[in-house]
Amino acid sequence: MINYTEKIPNNVDLGRDRVLQRALEHWQPAFLGWWYDMGPNESRNYDVYLRTAISVEPDGWAQFDYVKMPEYRWGIFLQPRDEQRRMNFGTHKGQPAWQDVPGEYRSTLLRVIVTQGDTEPASVEQQKMLGLSCPSLYDLRNIFQVNVEEGRHLWAMVYLLHRYFGRDGREEAEALLARRSGDTDNPRILGAFNEPTPDWLAFYMFTFFTDRDGKFQLCALAESGFDPLSRTCRFMLTEEAHHMFVGETGVSRIIQRTCELMKENKVEDPSDVRALGVIDLQTIQKYLNFHYSVTLDLYGSDVSSNAANYFTSGLKGRFRETKLDDDHVLTEAQYPVSEVVGGKVVTKDVPALTALNERLRNDYIDEIADGVSRWQRVIDQAGIPFRLTLPHKGFHRQIGNFAGHFISPDGEVLTEEAWKKHEFEWLPSPKDYAFVQSLMSGRVAEPGKFANWIAPPLRGINNQPLNFEYVRFN
Ligand SMILES: [Fe+2]
Ligand SMILES: [Fe+2]
Repeated sequence: MINYTEKIPNNVDLGRDRVLQRALEHWQPAFLGWWYDMGPNESRNYDVYLRTAISVEPDGWAQFDYVKMPEYRWGIFLQPRDEQRRMNFGTHKGQPAWQDVPGEYRSTLLRVIVTQGDTEPASVEQQKMLGLSCPSLYDLRNIFQVNVEEGRHLWAMVYLLHRYFGRDGREEAEALLARRSGDTDNPRILGAFNEPTPDWLAFYMFTFFTDRDGKFQLCALAESGFDPLSRTCRFMLTEEAHHMFVGETGVSRIIQRTCELMKENKVEDPSDVRALGVIDLQTIQKYLNFHYSVTLDLYGSDVSSNAANYFTSGLKGRFRETKLDDDHVLTEAQYPVSEVVGGKVVTKDVPALTALNERLRNDYIDEIADGVSRWQRVIDQAGIPFRLTLPHKGFHRQIGNFAGHFISPDGEVLTEEAWKKHEFEWLPSPKDYAFVQSLMSGRVAEPGKFANWIAPPLRGINNQPLNFEYVRFN
């Protein structure tokens, strides 16, 4: 169970480490200051029907109640330790998992943890204003749940920094509260976390695409030979599942509503669809193209010696490493990567160790494709002849082998001029964003009511009815 009697709830026996406890109690007010500044706008007095973890067991999520968000029990929860756990890959394979930071990998590990930690507050900052235009109390509660849990993910990484990295860790923990998403002078570390999330379609796309990148990164770090990082990530993954649920069902409900009105009114032309106050499928496709492509960049370069080092040294594994049937060392193995040669996309084999970013990206793409086909089913069931597609992997990329090339969603290599001519057929234009935002000018705050552009969900939270008062504004 988690000890809630302490100022910082935890299951790591914080009370026995006075120095660490004091360091974290010092960071806590700074975190709350950041939350008041950068957390959901105007929300501090709302009572929100949130779930709070009461233990780290699978059924530990049973606690639902009204909570004011600044009083959410942010804390430090690690999956229980497995005393037998060993390194499962890389040159140290077979050795007992590390309980302390190995000196030779200290700076690499610090960078891995800081980079992961930086994404957590970033997404809260990106979503700060969305509460003001929520489509229902149900959706408002969901975004708040995501936000408090991203706050807790920040806590999870900050615990590791304070506990294992001394003064360097404390400085990095402060810097995590100082950077700001989209800031020109002091931005967040990764590109996708500096993009705005200007509306609810973007929010659902973000939680479907970018939170899922979070899942895959956490899965790779859950394999880490540094056991405290592994145990931290394992618990974070239980929270991530809900974020992706919010994204997938959110987009699905938007598609469903659009299809319903298209059928009812027998219209197909995007401008006729928009006139009904819903988002046309073409615009949904453009948002999909945008969020997919910027998220693919988060996996890094196709060929990367850093990725090889992370793996070889045992810091970051592959997706489901222990379920894979090979030597887990990969010194002999090859893996295919794509690149642009002479105006064509070609594939070549490279040492598998250097292609681990690309491999994780491909695992991610498989899962994304499944989700997109579930969205497609909603369109098919309505009998509407429209296909949602994933664009080519090289489309609109800034990092890796496709950076600097101009690839169409079909995978054709174009000139910059030709690509630019079609840009806003493929990506949302300022006008598209303006249209979507015009639908979301105010919030729908009456219990049981939903904005016109989105269908209600199948069921409420924790078996509550759809007209439950998920948020009380006071
Ligand atoms: Fe997170
Ligand atoms: Fe998340």
